Formats: sequence, structure tokens, C-alpha cells
Amino acid sequence: MNYKIAVLSGDGIGPEVVKEATQVLNQIAILYGFRVEYEEGLVGGASIDAYGKPLVDSVLKLAKESHAVLLGAMGGPKWDGLDYSIRPERALLALRQELGLFANLRPVKLFSALAPASTLRREVVEGTDLLVVRELTGGIYFGQPKGVTQLPDGTERGVNTEVYTTPEIERIAHVAFEAGRRRRKKVTSVDKANVLEATELWRKVVTRVHKENGYGDVQLEHMLVDNCAMQLIRDPKQFDVIVTTNMFGDILSDEAAMLTGSIGMLPSASLGGKVGMYEPVHGSAPDIAGKDLANPLATILTVGMMLRHSLDRGKAAERVERAVEGVLNEGYRTGDIQEEGCRLVGCREMGRLVREKIERIQG
Ligand code: IPM
Ligand code: MG
Repeated sequence: MNYKIAVLSGDGIGPEVVKEATQVLNQIAILYGFRVEYEEGLVGGASIDAYGKPLVDSVLKLAKESHAVLLGAMGGPKWDGLDYSIRPERALLALRQELGLFANLRPVKLFSALAPASTLRREVVEGTDLLVVRELTGGIYFGQPKGVTQLPDGTERGVNTEVYTTPEIERIAHVAFEAGRRRRKKVTSVDKANVLEATELWRKVVTRVHKENGYGDVQLEHMLVDNCAMQLIRDPKQFDVIVTTNMFGDILSDEAAMLTGSIGMLPSASLGGKVGMYEPVHGSAPDIAGKDLANPLATILTVGMMLRHSLDRGKAAERVERAVEGVLNEGYRTGDIQEEGCRLVGCREMGRLVREKIERIQG
């Protein structure tokens, strides 16, 4: 089998972490007897610099015609002053929407070697293993009307709209229940149903999907988002699958990332269309870009998710995850997860160590 992967490294640390991850994929391809072919495209700030906008048609076409998209990170202070419509982040939103990627899976799993790297106490975080299922193409990110208008008295009015329809909620609920069924069989649906009508509908539809589709083997609970934010740091082990709206998912997944020690550890998969898109949860970290300081593990684990969800190579995915765990167990750390007594390494060295480990473990 020959897979075509669109590589959109983006800005900041994007290119350096993506480089380590594609080298892992090359190695896996050799070990498991398939071929990968990369085609690179500029997105985000890099695309603005080259073409004057964050996503051009040819790059969108490249993404649509690939088996999977591997994304780095987008944005940076250089482009912060630009109008919203041409900011680097727009490329990400456009790709998600154009590819129909309504389901964003963000597994939050603490490697036990990293328990001391978390700002929370070991006994609180140890054993954390949850999955945030974030709705990704609806809600306040895309709702109309939106924008800033000038009022007659000279002041301005800014508007965004939280909007969800029944089918949008149904399809993400199915993703969550199916995922829960393959895990510990518990789904927590997070909303603000005590205040927001759009999420009152969310709660109603999730409840109905659960009841009418034979998901009785999966336990469903509802939680208000403010309480969920609190529960995540109070007792993260109570969660298995969290399903929530686009914006709540954005916020809660950053919070949950800190349970794993660093956002530099969190992979994600955006699914729902013909082509899956795979992106680490972290941003472009312009302050450390190009200095060989970034943590490539999130992107390497993201390649693991690609192997599982787009290339149908579950065994290979496990091998990547075990290799990452092995390297951490041996005490190697990048700066973001550094602790006393551990061996500090750079981005390239961390990538090399993972590949060395992959070579040595049985798949
Ligand atoms: C994320 C990011 C993006 C989002 C930004 C960069 C547009 O924060 O993937 O979590 O808000 O979805
Ligand atoms: Mg975010």
C-alpha cells in the first residue's frame, strides 16, 4: 500500500516537530511494509508570507487528495495584527470545515514517568486516561451572525453566535458513544444547559441518541462546563470520554493537557470526512522555534493516531506509543517536562531516541 500524506508544517516549532514525526512514520513504513509519500504545503503565517493569505486553493486541494494530513502549528506574533479573516488560525478553521472534520479526538493520558512533571499532586494525576471528543466544525467558532459593527454613538458591537442543530449533535454523540464502548464505557457530556439554550438542545439530543441507539452498555452523565473544569483538576480519574462543544472542548482540552505534564505531550485526530487531519494540540511556540528545544512527542504520538485511524495500523500505533513511554521511562526529557535527575535532550535527539526504541521493541 502506498499512502499519500499532505504535510503542512506551518509556523514556529511546526517544521521541527513534524520532521521528527515524519521520520518516525518512515521507519514504521519500512518495518510494516507500506510506503508513504509526502507532499508539502505552506499554511498559516508561512502561507501569508508567500501568498498573502493563510490557505491557498492548491494546498486545500492537496489536503483533499491525500490519505491523511499531518499538521504542525500555526500563528505567531508576526501575524497577530492582521485582520481576523486572514490570520494564520483561519487556515486551520478552513481546513477543518472544508474537510468536514467534525470530530476532534484528544486523548489525555498520563505516562506515569511524567507524574512529577504535572503541577498537580501525583496521587491526583496518576492513572489519568481520558478522551476529549470535541465538536469541531460548529458552535460559536462558525455561527452566524458574527463580526464587529460600528454603532451610531461611535462605540462598537462584537457578536459571535453559538449555534447547534440536531444532526450536528447527533453525529458527535455517536462518535463519543462508539469511543466509550471501546474504552471504559462512560461518557460525560459537557454543556451549559442551565443558561444556554443551544446547549440545552445539546443535552436533549445526546440523551436521545444514547437511549434510542442501543448504547445502554455505555454510562451517560451530564456535567455543566464550569463544574467539569473544576472536576478535571479535582479528580481527573473519574472521566473516560468527555464529549462537548467546539469552544468548551478547546478550553477543557488545554486544561486537561496539564494533567499530562505538558501540552507538548498531547496528540489529536480530526475525523469525520474522507481524509483525517492529525495535529498536536500545542501551538507554534515562537519563543523556542528553531532552537532545537521543542518537544516532538505530541507530534510523534499524533502520527500514532494517524496510523490507527487513517492507515489502519493499530499494531504500529501501539509500537510508537510504547516507544515514547520507554524513552520517558529511561529518563529522557525535553525542557517542558524536565525535572531533576532526568536527562535533558533537544527536539532532534528526542526524535532519534524514539526511533531507536521503536527499532528495539517487538511490534
Ligand atoms: C486548538 C487551537 C485552535 C482552536 C486555534 C489555533 C484556532 O487552540 O486546536 O485547540 O481554537 O481550535
Ligand atoms: Mg486550543
